[in-house]
Amino acid sequence: MEIPFLSLKSTNQQFEDLYKLALSAFLSSGQYMLGKKLESFEQNFANYCQSKYCVGVANGLDALILILDSFKFKRKAEVIVPANTYFASILAIKKAGLVPVLVEPNLGDYLINIKNIESAITQNTVAVLAVNLYGRMCDFDNISKLCNAYSLKLVVDAAQSHGAVYENIKNCNGADATAYSFYPTKNLGALSDAGAVVTDNELLASSIRKNRNYGSEIKYQFDSLGLNSRLSELQASFLDLKLNYLDAEILKRRQIAERYLTEIKNEKLIMPPSDRIHEDAWHLFVVRTDNRIELMNYLKTAQIGYDIHYPIPPHKQKALPEFNNLDLPITEEIHRTVLSLPMNSSLSVEEVDFIIFTLNSY
Ligand SMILES: Cc1ncc(COP(=O)(O)O)c(C=O)c1O
Repeated sequence: MEIPFLSLKSTNQQFEDLYKLALSAFLSSGQYMLGKKLESFEQNFANYCQSKYCVGVANGLDALILILDSFKFKRKAEVIVPANTYFASILAIKKAGLVPVLVEPNLGDYLINIKNIESAITQNTVAVLAVNLYGRMCDFDNISKLCNAYSLKLVVDAAQSHGAVYENIKNCNGADATAYSFYPTKNLGALSDAGAVVTDNELLASSIRKNRNYGSEIKYQFDSLGLNSRLSELQASFLDLKLNYLDAEILKRRQIAERYLTEIKNEKLIMPPSDRIHEDAWHLFVVRTDNRIELMNYLKTAQIGYDIHYPIPPHKQKALPEFNNLDLPITEEIHRTVLSLPMNSSLSVEEVDFIIFTLNSY
């Protein structure tokens, strides 16, 4: 049995008929950008997040840049961010003309460590960018308290956590703004790049709405230096129809996570935290192992797909030479040992059985 890490063809197969209907409605509408489909998705996704506003943008990176730009921080102000995140979280801070301050995560759940946030705060700190890595929400109760105490903005990178629950809400509503990505591999994925900003702040939402469209509200009148970062009508209509199935997608992921967590028993593997099986969105199911190359070879022979999220930490990337000499042992240990197992709703029971059996025989 050959099991790919993720087959977008399989995950999208169930929607093919609906996509065709949406494409045909899109063609006959003649409205390709900034129309009713986008408005409908924005309203529905805001409702899903139990938040007031959603502004669709071109991708998750732009969502972060637009949020950070909208605060109009002074240049070179500092934003605290976890050192183990996808490169885009840090890139967004740099692109907004700000300075990323990288802090170590917890080794237990791979998320930003609150004590390390506090010790990284300086007179120049203006915001915390918390990342819900792998589909698990950060400790927002304590992070929001800290941000309030130091008058810092709280921005959330939720590119990997659509549908994760925190205190009964599917979004972090204590944050100033949350950035989502709908890249095709995400729990809610478009058929192209796409993203959104979710916020309860009306002014912030309208500023981002303007800035995703060159800084223009009235045709050919430019009030600020925005981006061209619009979410297309076609992708918005695909996302709108898929949103109806997001909870089912996540339920299936939780069921698979529960099986992996209870049935995989192998001392060579460190499993992800199991305390919030029914709240985490399980975008990725990440195990750790000391000898990753051996595990990779073993899975290859068994024809089970895997991926590494991520092999090189941001501070060791060529694009960030100013951080190359930082000493971040927890982040480096995570990057050295992680491996992601197949995790998506198109996995069959037999495939999950086979993955569990194979890992127990490792
Ligand atoms: C944590 C995180 N932040 C930001 C992004 C950027 O999203 P996009 O690829 O839509 O720009 C991603 C995308 O993979 C991500 O995983």
